[in-house]
Amino acid sequence: MSKPFKEIGVGVIGFGTVGTGTVKLLLENAELLRKRVGVPVKLLQVADMDTERNRGIKLPNGMLIDNAMRIVRDPNIQIVVELAGGTGAAKDFILESIRGGKSVVTANKALLAEHGTEIMRAAINAGVDIGFEASVGGGIPIIRTLREGLSANRIEGIYGIINGTCNYILSRMTKEGKPFAEVLAEAQNNGLAEADPSFDVDGIDASHKLAILIWLSTGGRVRLKDIYVEGIRDISPDDIAFAKVFGYTVKLLAIAKENGSGIEARVHPTMIPSQYLLSTVDGSNNAIYVKGDFVGSSMSYGQGAGMLPTASAVVSDVVEISRNLLRGSTGRIPPSGFSLMNQNMVTKIKPFEEVQCEYYLRILVMDKPGVLSRIAGVLGKHAISITSVLQKGKEKNAVPIFIITHQAKESDMRAAIAEVDKLSEVLDRTRMIRIENNL
Ligand code: HSE
Repeated sequence: MSKPFKEIGVGVIGFGTVGTGTVKLLLENAELLRKRVGVPVKLLQVADMDTERNRGIKLPNGMLIDNAMRIVRDPNIQIVVELAGGTGAAKDFILESIRGGKSVVTANKALLAEHGTEIMRAAINAGVDIGFEASVGGGIPIIRTLREGLSANRIEGIYGIINGTCNYILSRMTKEGKPFAEVLAEAQNNGLAEADPSFDVDGIDASHKLAILIWLSTGGRVRLKDIYVEGIRDISPDDIAFAKVFGYTVKLLAIAKENGSGIEARVHPTMIPSQYLLSTVDGSNNAIYVKGDFVGSSMSYGQGAGMLPTASAVVSDVVEISRNLLRGSTGRIPPSGFSLMNQNMVTKIKPFEEVQCEYYLRILVMDKPGVLSRIAGVLGKHAISITSVLQKGKEKNAVPIFIITHQAKESDMRAAIAEVDKLSEVLDRTRMIRIENNL
């Protein structure tokens, strides 16, 4: 039997950027939310260790507290919104809330990627809902898209621009021809990149999000260590310029695809044809391109981060859970979108060394006869065939050679590069970018 709720009580833990947006939305759109849900969705308590900082929002007296456990244990609160972040106390808040029969909303992709199995199992066993729409793609409703909108499809591929910081840096490098370090420093000065940017620029954030997307596509958890991750620090303006000459744009892509011989899961800088819609995703925007066996291609696009877009995703979960509470139907949709029988499933990922794709290589060599043929010889020895070659510019006697290859196996490419780099005419470490042509 559904409970006769006169209102749904909400508590928010974490009054940082997303917390502030969420509180603002719950207060400013309270009437709209009431109309959508049928009863008031009422913000009752906000917790943060810092109760002094001015966030530009006036809360009623007594609403802001410093003890998050009071929210977790408040019998008037049915939905706990965890926006504290991190994988320590946040996990305790969530598990304790679930144990107390409360539903939870979180944006914490690191926590879900690392401890998702334990958290989901607890939620399923307690018959409560756990919403995590904000964990991937900020304001883009990609979780619901995969779990509900595309639930009739076998998902054949996901290609995501799911880290706004990287996309912002690469977009500016592309437009302005500036080096990575300069654009990153400017982004940090403008507050567009974190003071410690490694989580973003080294691809870790994108890999956490990809793990969640694969789980929603296959029903199986992915071990983070099975996802190959490479960030964007090594990309130079030359790579971007020559990608353009070859008809490509460089993006940090999170890729998952099923091609008959296992599921590939990887995050790395990728060259994609410049005419593709994904190539046009600019600045800090996100986009997730999904291929399903019946729907074909579909792409979701929008703001992947930020106070208000992320709050939009958080509160969409609050609305869904409120509706479920009113109908007594929490737990109706399993967290992964797959029946509970599949909850212990692990998705096996194809070893990265076996992945096949086309490659771009930048090799700095001495400008003298026979060098190109020696390089071609090494590539040929490792079963790598060349599609095109370009040589341009010259500094003293050093010249970069740009090569695009046909499909090759990752392990062959690595062995070939190791051998190329040992040639006496090769002056620097060879740079390689993977190409995806058939999205
Ligand atoms: N740091 C992330 C990004 C946003 O740059 O996209 C939060 O997921």
